[in-house]
Amino acid sequence: MRAENGQIIKLEDYLPADFVIHQVDMTFDLRDGHADVLTRLVMQRREGVAAEAPLELDGDELSLTSLALNGTPVSPQNYTVAPDSLKIDDLPAQDQFTLEIGTRLHPEQNTKLMGLYRSNGIWCTQCEAQGFRRITYFLDRPDVLATYKVRLEADKAAAPVLLANGNPVASGDLPNGRHFAEWIDPHLKPSYLFAIVGGRLDVLKDSLTTISGRHVELAIYTEPGLAERATYAMDALKRSMWWDERRFGREYDLDVFNIVAISDFNMGAMENKGLNVFNHKYVLLDSETATDADYAGVETVIAHEYFHNWTGNRITCRDWFQLCLKEGLTVYRDQEFSSDERSRPVKRISCVHTLKANQFPEDQGPLQHPVRPTTYREINNFYTATVYDKGSELVRMLATILGEDKFRAGMDLYFERHDGDAATIEDFIACFAQTANMDLSQFALWYNQAGTPRLTVSQSYDAKAGTLTLNLQQQLDKGAAGTGTLPMHIPVRFGLVGANGQDIAAEAASDDARVSGDTIHLTTASATIVFTGLNQRPLLSILRDFSAPVQLQYEESEADRLALARLDPDAYGRWRALTDLVGDSLADAARQWAKSGPQTVSDTVLGAIVEAADDTSLEPALRAQMCSLPGETEIARLVAEDVNPEIIHTLRLQTLARLGMLGGETFRSLRAELAEPAGEFSASAASAGRRALRNCLLAPLSAAAGRPDDAAKQYAQATNMSDRMAALTVLVHQFPQELVSQDALTDFYNRFESDPLVLDKWFALQAASPNADTLERVEALLHHEKFKLANPNRARAVIGGLAGANPSVFHRADGAGYRWVCGVLLQLDSLNPQTAARMATAFRSWRSMNPALRQQAEAALRQLAASENLSRDLRDIVERTLK
Ligand code: ARG
Ligand code: ZN
Repeated sequence: MRAENGQIIKLEDYLPADFVIHQVDMTFDLRDGHADVLTRLVMQRREGVAAEAPLELDGDELSLTSLALNGTPVSPQNYTVAPDSLKIDDLPAQDQFTLEIGTRLHPEQNTKLMGLYRSNGIWCTQCEAQGFRRITYFLDRPDVLATYKVRLEADKAAAPVLLANGNPVASGDLPNGRHFAEWIDPHLKPSYLFAIVGGRLDVLKDSLTTISGRHVELAIYTEPGLAERATYAMDALKRSMWWDERRFGREYDLDVFNIVAISDFNMGAMENKGLNVFNHKYVLLDSETATDADYAGVETVIAHEYFHNWTGNRITCRDWFQLCLKEGLTVYRDQEFSSDERSRPVKRISCVHTLKANQFPEDQGPLQHPVRPTTYREINNFYTATVYDKGSELVRMLATILGEDKFRAGMDLYFERHDGDAATIEDFIACFAQTANMDLSQFALWYNQAGTPRLTVSQSYDAKAGTLTLNLQQQLDKGAAGTGTLPMHIPVRFGLVGANGQDIAAEAASDDARVSGDTIHLTTASATIVFTGLNQRPLLSILRDFSAPVQLQYEESEADRLALARLDPDAYGRWRALTDLVGDSLADAARQWAKSGPQTVSDTVLGAIVEAADDTSLEPALRAQMCSLPGETEIARLVAEDVNPEIIHTLRLQTLARLGMLGGETFRSLRAELAEPAGEFSASAASAGRRALRNCLLAPLSAAAGRPDDAAKQYAQATNMSDRMAALTVLVHQFPQELVSQDALTDFYNRFESDPLVLDKWFALQAASPNADTLERVEALLHHEKFKLANPNRARAVIGGLAGANPSVFHRADGAGYRWVCGVLLQLDSLNPQTAARMATAFRSWRSMNPALRQQAEAALRQLAASENLSRDLRDIVERTLK
């Protein structure tokens, strides 16, 4: 199953490897300029494999320095080596043998940041998905499980800290100022979970005793001088460990748990066994440098990587098609953790928001794929919102369908039955089918059929009979992935709300088996359900908690939506009704505007937002979610076709101003009441919620005033980063030409010049500024002394700021935005293909633009595709996007 460049890998071709690897012993000799790696593999031909079958190992840009079999050098006619493969003939037919492989690496030159590389002088590794083959020749696939022993040697001054997976077993000094450390990981693991780190690092230490009494040393390593900023991350780690013991019965299984924060990192973080490596963005923070969203992000990612210890590490994936087995499930677990730690409805709303913003466009465009894909060219391009976030929704649906107890029993069985395995989705589902004694084959379609089903709902009330008839229909179109369209099992949670704002206990006619409690189980293409005994027409609160990842199509009157936004006893339901009302109003106005000129959203709709903002029966964080207007990209998604981002931009800004006008007094007094209390900063969810509400009112008030005064004042008085960023965003986005805005940007730069994470915000904010001269400014940012294309966070700040967060500039009518992004992607691709490919997904919705823009986007993409040296990563995205 080794992938040639561009070759398509298929799930149906899966075969276990011909050889097993029992034990891996590695020695790393880390030097400036190069690293020598000696790997000793204890291997054996798998039973039943032909005695003459050669051993084929994966490599990637490797150079072999030595090769020995059972202690004797292998003669050149018995092997064939290339940077990406090593093939050895004449191996023992049955017996165990040891293979010793020497490789020389150049970590300083590794800008792909896969395998072993150096970030600010720190040696570190990233092996998922296929980075281990950049360290040594190996059977680099997740179903090859072995125990590892690692010895690291380095200059003691350059790398006083030497870390690897598992537990430390020995360390000591060597001649010439060098030293060593040895680590043993007793747990079976696949190569993608391998990690080492070496460098001059500071550390924040703590410890914890697990539920059964195991003492665990916890440590978070950072670049010098920053360990204190890991305090919140450490707290989140301890809470995660505690939670997983109680909620899922999962305990930690080593004597140490180490986290290292790295500044050059392709992704968020990585769950290497006992040695998590993190993008420092998800570790380091304090109130002066991080927003409340950053705090929530750190908590989530720390928990996510920790939870992988069971869902991912103890039980891993058989092959990369099963990625959602660990990712979807672990996202579900981290979302549950945040819900328990913070506010459940607020967390749910933010997840639904993210799902619709990131996953829906993917599922409805050219990059569509099932949660469990069946083919890929480049696996790194499948760490997607579909695998992660829709994957999590599928686990949540399973929990909804089974109920809490049976779901937990299924999880218990999964842990018990598959501990130490490389498992599949079928294995996972079989555990729940068994504990719930249910046939889950229809449910399993969710993993295999790509696309977002449409759920069409209609209702009619018969006053005389006292009945409410609901019709539900599901439909799935064949999209880019071309997978099946069979009806699936869709759990639809609902409520029937009375005029008093309470749920009416509804009876389904003749004990309809499809209704159980507050859930309708839709398993057919269409279903009609009759509720009886209703002496008033209830309001239908449909798809509560977003109980299935579907596109809801429901002819719901404005009056019903307004009423539900006010009275639904379910908080999610209130948000849903208001958001749909506001979103549809904006989308309708945008469509109409394109045909017949400027439009507005009605005062009634805006009034409902003001009312929600002021409803003190709701927690502030929820009110902030209810009264934030949808973003431009979100409105574009609702408009769906022939999108004109220019119109959406103007419409949204004018709507913001009218909202500020209408809400004026209310918003101002709310802001005064919610003013940040003097004294110690609190990162608690409750405090963050108050800041969120106060800050989300600043944009409409400023737009209404047409003046930057309030924002300038808030910027000047800010005592934390959330308040500071909210003010600066309004200044830079609404009042780019004003001197105060330029001054604030300069002040921000001067304050945080030496802090890369804050500087990323400075770069991103300017790239996301919707102004006529943004492209010129962003071009200048590329030449700024602090800009470094090879640093993924910095590259993402500028490219992502423009392509992902600035629709009216990215989609500029003259195509200059598209061309600029493609130009930078081409440069980035030669350094870091994985990050370039990720950024290129900004083009995924190009076909929903108006014809003139489509033409421009296609031309820019075709030009990019015509470049000769595109990486496999970027080419895969560009070609699929154009298809
Ligand atoms: N497993 C990591 C996580 O989600 C992410 C690894 C991403 N790898 C990649 N090649 N994109 O926790
Ligand atoms: Zn993960």
